[in-house]
Amino acid sequence: MRMLRVEGGRRLSGETRVSRAKNAVLPILAASLLTDGEVTVKDVPRIDDVAHMLDILRTLGCDAVWDQGDVRLSAANLRDTALPDALAKTLRSSIFLMGPLLARMRRAAVTYPGGCEIGLRPIDLHLQGLRALGVAIREEGGLILCDGSRMHGSNVHFDYPSVGATENVMLAAVLAPGDTTIYNAAREPEIADLQACVNKMGGRVRGAGTSTIEIEGVAALHGVCHRPIPDRIVAGTLLAALAITGGEGRLLETAPREMSAVLEALREMGCRVHVGRDSVALRAPERLRAFRSLQTSPHPGFPTDMQAQMLALASIAQGTSVLTENVFENRLNHVQDLRRMGADIVVSGRVAVVRGVEKLSGARVSAHDLRAGAALVLAGLCAQGETVVEHAERIDRGYERLEEQLGALGALVSKETDETV
Ligand code: UD1
Repeated sequence: MRMLRVEGGRRLSGETRVSRAKNAVLPILAASLLTDGEVTVKDVPRIDDVAHMLDILRTLGCDAVWDQGDVRLSAANLRDTALPDALAKTLRSSIFLMGPLLARMRRAAVTYPGGCEIGLRPIDLHLQGLRALGVAIREEGGLILCDGSRMHGSNVHFDYPSVGATENVMLAAVLAPGDTTIYNAAREPEIADLQACVNKMGGRVRGAGTSTIEIEGVAALHGVCHRPIPDRIVAGTLLAALAITGGEGRLLETAPREMSAVLEALREMGCRVHVGRDSVALRAPERLRAFRSLQTSPHPGFPTDMQAQMLALASIAQGTSVLTENVFENRLNHVQDLRRMGADIVVSGRVAVVRGVEKLSGARVSAHDLRAGAALVLAGLCAQGETVVEHAERIDRGYERLEEQLGALGALVSKETDETV
């Protein structure tokens, strides 16, 4: 088990760069299967989810090597269409390898995917979308077996704008004969980035970033070099770190336009936020104010991946904040740990009511999932004394050396490994 030890009470300040988005990089790595040409993904964050994705791609027969900060991939010798069980279980994003495998090989076999423990996270929409493209799907012994030999373009209507299902269908349809239109598609900026990458490979996709995506199937795709967009959740987390410590600083290489819901919430809490073309500066007030009501929803709404961090901020803000988690049904596990640190939070179903306290105190807590872990680190930054966040390997899934990124802003955070757990 890895642990982060956080020294509380230091006001953060300074400048730092934001890494490229995990949620853009993972589907782009999956898209490398679509071609026998070479795919280079620039400035890939060294996070555990990426390492797992590369391991899965390698077992499928894809070459994947690090070249400084870039990843070079070649799926010229792609041979396998069955996702390795143990690996796929560690990574939810393995599910959107189904789309590219079907596109290129017309076959795929997967087990139910893993990932963070944040609710049921079914894959019915993925399967429904692929079925609409003519993929025959059956379940056998815990495996989902997909036959895409009769795949074709079609209309896909989603009841809910799932990010992963939208990406999966997009990646399957780029090489399916005929035209596909996805209605009620997710509008996350990472989907627009995937479209940009696929189109550079010779794909014909338009509309990503809106709720209707049109895909004209092509016969083959070629190699590409692509630099994914900045990580808006990492950026939001770093801004939250400045805010919770009463600090002031600037993030470089970020995409503020995609962060408006988060920036608006930080402003409501009393932060002064100044947006440049690809930078964001923040100055926190002496004491944060409660936000009245915040609800997570699909993009461009407030992102569920920033919910836990906002709850940490609300814990020490003046007044009462009400937060509703609408995207995942079981994503308030961090509340019990924030309470151990002195936060006053009551949860009823998906709603958390937070009465801001003057101070949190350091405690030994545990990261239930990636973002919950980040929230506990934030709480530790402003708490009195020392906080130890256990299971920091969950944080490493999505943050590239968070301890160093925060350290660059003046925080004292160190990582330790407990070999016995
Ligand atoms: C992606 C992000 C994740 C983020 C989430 C919501 C990646 C790698 N991950 O996850 O960080 O938290 O979007 O913004 O990009 N659902 C179904 N059936 C399905 C698929 C989803 O019911 O087939 C439900 C889920 O249980 C959840 C909601 O839809 O309640 C949103 O899920 P979805 O948008 O698919 O999220 P992910 O793609 O898993």
